[in-house]
Amino acid sequence: MTTDTHQTERTRVLTGITTTGTPHLGNYVGAIRPTVRASLNPATQGFYFLADYHALIKCDEPARIQRSTLEIAASWIAAGLDPERVMFYRQSDIPEIPELTWLLTCVTGKGLLNRAHAYKASVDKNNAAGNDPDADVSAGLFMYPVLMGADILMFKAHKVPVGRDQIQHIEMARDMASSFNHLYGEHLVLPEAVIEESVALLPGLDGRKMSKSYDNTIPLFSSSAQLKKLISGIVTDSRAPGEAKDTEGSALFQIYQAFATAQETAALAKAYAEGIGWGDAKQILLERIEREVAPMRAQYEELISNPAKVDAILLKGAAKARELATPLIKELRHAVGLRALASSGTPQTAAKTVRAAAASFKQYREKDGQFYFKLVDAQGSVLLQSLGFSSPKDAGLAIAQLQQTEVKEMADLGSQIVLGEGLNLVDVAKGLDALRAEMAEKAKAKGSNLT
Ligand code: TRP
Repeated sequence: MTTDTHQTERTRVLTGITTTGTPHLGNYVGAIRPTVRASLNPATQGFYFLADYHALIKCDEPARIQRSTLEIAASWIAAGLDPERVMFYRQSDIPEIPELTWLLTCVTGKGLLNRAHAYKASVDKNNAAGNDPDADVSAGLFMYPVLMGADILMFKAHKVPVGRDQIQHIEMARDMASSFNHLYGEHLVLPEAVIEESVALLPGLDGRKMSKSYDNTIPLFSSSAQLKKLISGIVTDSRAPGEAKDTEGSALFQIYQAFATAQETAALAKAYAEGIGWGDAKQILLERIEREVAPMRAQYEELISNPAKVDAILLKGAAKARELATPLIKELRHAVGLRALASSGTPQTAAKTVRAAAASFKQYREKDGQFYFKLVDAQGSVLLQSLGFSSPKDAGLAIAQLQQTEVKEMADLGSQIVLGEGLNLVDVAKGLDALRAEMAEKAKAKGSNLT
């Protein structure tokens, strides 16, 4: 009988929540509710954490960070996240994370961070205003992607559910992991972003996306009275009772839909067509939200009034998470050479010498009579594949050209090459860089042989 370890090892799903605000209905519908549901899947192991080091980058109000940490933790637990079943912890309770951040910092190109969207947006804004490009940009903002990379790589996460704005950060984490592995051997897992397409974007009180920055939110755990007041403030048009209403573009309708069943939604659509008054529609929405939220409210309030209990839950989660983090950081320290002076470096240095040719071009001819080439990395994965050339000479010229190409010019080659599956230009450029370094080394070795 054989046991397949890949089958028994669960997929690790990890995501972080920055602790700067109070959870609102948009967070509930877009992140908390789907994540709590997904956490029940027995094929996955969930890692959910409060990204309070990240919060420091955006917020310098200590009381707000503390309060937000409590509110977010209490909300997730009240919404059904089971801390016994998943890893639920506070980032700042894991000292291995900042330690890994430094190890990653040392393998991350500064140029990679220069290209991060959030940093670039700040620089662009400064440039447009005629300020120093880095005015008011903290080194923390610049380093944000590395800290996030450490969050993810620390726990060898496979899947990272995030919003679209975070995809670039996951790609950077992949880059950091492959740079580290390239230099020190296979220690880190390359994560993948997961974008939940089906999750509704909830409109806020004014009809724009519900967001703290628009000040149009409905807090998830408002009291019933507050909830009633906020719902009465949702924008509607001025149609009177008895006049048919449009469901399309109605924030009230969309919020209702995010909570209701298909049947309930159809019933409200019918009521709209039949001219339900806005006051009555708002009452229906209030009752529907209450039906889902009220049962969770008692536990939320209990946790909020017992912060020590939440501390205890988070510390227990951190202890569990550190059972994974501590051995990995030990392994990584050893790998980079932070190790006992008396220890032999054999296992890790061996990994490095075993790594043979970094990448190579292979030329071949296909049945169609055309000449092709591909760039293959040390593990045999195809980094890129050319389109067909009519002669081997043309293919050879294209290879020569590619070897001279800088990362930033690679996009211009789009018509000649197809990237390997799941790869971006940075992966390919790295393969090329490694190849060039190898050729330069060989040339040097040859030179010294001659003298
Ligand atoms: N940057 C993420 C956000 O703003 C929060 C975050 C921090 C995160 N570390 C993470 C998300 C690790 C996923 C994985 O939403």
